[in-house]
Amino acid sequence: MRTVIKNGHVIDIKSGLNKVTDIVIEDGIVASVEENADILGAEVIDAEGLYVVPGLIDAHCHLRDPGFEYKEDIETGTKSAAKGGFTSVACMPNTNPVIDNETVVNYIKDKAAREGYVHVFPIGAISKGLKGELLSEIGELKFAGAVGISDDGKPVVSSGLMKKALIYSSMFDITVISHCEDMSLVEEGVMNEGYNSTIMGLKGIPSAAEETMIARDLILSEYTGVPIHIAHVSTKLGIQLIRDAKKRGVKVTCETCPHYFSLTDDSCLGFNTLAKVNPPLRRQEDVDAVIEGLKDGTIDIIATDHAPHHKDEKNLEFGYAANGMVGFETALPLAITNLYHKGHMSLEAIIEKMTINPAKMLGLAKGDISVGKMCDITIFDANKEYTVDISKFESKSKNSPFDGYSVKGAVKYTIVDGNIVVRDGMLM
Ligand code: DOR
Ligand code: ZN
Repeated sequence: MRTVIKNGHVIDIKSGLNKVTDIVIEDGIVASVEENADILGAEVIDAEGLYVVPGLIDAHCHLRDPGFEYKEDIETGTKSAAKGGFTSVACMPNTNPVIDNETVVNYIKDKAAREGYVHVFPIGAISKGLKGELLSEIGELKFAGAVGISDDGKPVVSSGLMKKALIYSSMFDITVISHCEDMSLVEEGVMNEGYNSTIMGLKGIPSAAEETMIARDLILSEYTGVPIHIAHVSTKLGIQLIRDAKKRGVKVTCETCPHYFSLTDDSCLGFNTLAKVNPPLRRQEDVDAVIEGLKDGTIDIIATDHAPHHKDEKNLEFGYAANGMVGFETALPLAITNLYHKGHMSLEAIIEKMTINPAKMLGLAKGDISVGKMCDITIFDANKEYTVDISKFESKSKNSPFDGYSVKGAVKYTIVDGNIVVRDGMLM
């Protein structure tokens, strides 16, 4: 089996490759990167005018399998990921049962091997049952194949437990991913605290709820000397705290998500529960700070936080609706539209934050295009304009606030282990 990707603009951050050339794939492996590659007997992908990059890696998603398959399962979730250009996704442990032991890791790996359209890497829980009381068996999770540990969806309330998680994680060389939220500051809050929450008569969540927990985790990382990764940062001061910590040498990395650089809490007006997410959508000054953090390297990763929910969990009064939005199929177009076309970032910088940086954080030998390695590649058109249509999503859930949103940037091909999973924008 020989496939040649012809005349695409290849961007590979690891090797520094950034030019129009061909890529030859043989038996799933990158056989060569060369100009005027021989196409005899090969399947040819005409990539003229398109960008060819390492397969995108999502460091943070929710596949809902096992336990919440009415929202999403491994098959539909990975179909949606592939459609969005992701070839690898790391899924959070707030499933039922929780990913806090070897059996659940194995279940996900086995099911993904049978039914998955892309590579799936489970993230294990920091605490057993996500209860915040006892550490899960971190070594067991790592040896089974977990690529990180997180209680995502909930904070680790006890500083002592978080300290222990960091110390154990360093023994097993696995990254701690922290969902930063001080519940005693959130209280009954359901959206960002500010003008909009006031006029809507809803209880607000102050930025400080996220920032105080970021500060604590930075201190614990500095104290133990162990790296920490902060999930979905959304506030100006939170980003400044991380920037300052990095300057002092704290081994912190962090991610944001497309909704935090694309939307403000104005999207919640009209009690739009599709815009209800945790952390909540913030104010324009926070959006600007997220973009600044992405630009100056404070924010390492763009992750989706793909969080599918059934429509019955969203068609509720704002306070009762579930937090989260689906994200796989809009992430790259939103990054291209709101970061690249608005002149904030180069495509190279965006690709770095969606390929090699998440690979490094999770310890995956992926995120690059290297001869001899299995071939995960994404091909996109950076200029194709279209309107987001949630009814076309592959995800089982359609909870996106971006329906009808105009974007510029479309995934054309997703290639996983040399197999074309998405061809000309269509799932195979
Ligand atoms: O909005 C969110 N949804 N934030 C989280 O932290 C969890 C996620 C979920 O699991 O639905
Ligand atoms: Zn979270």
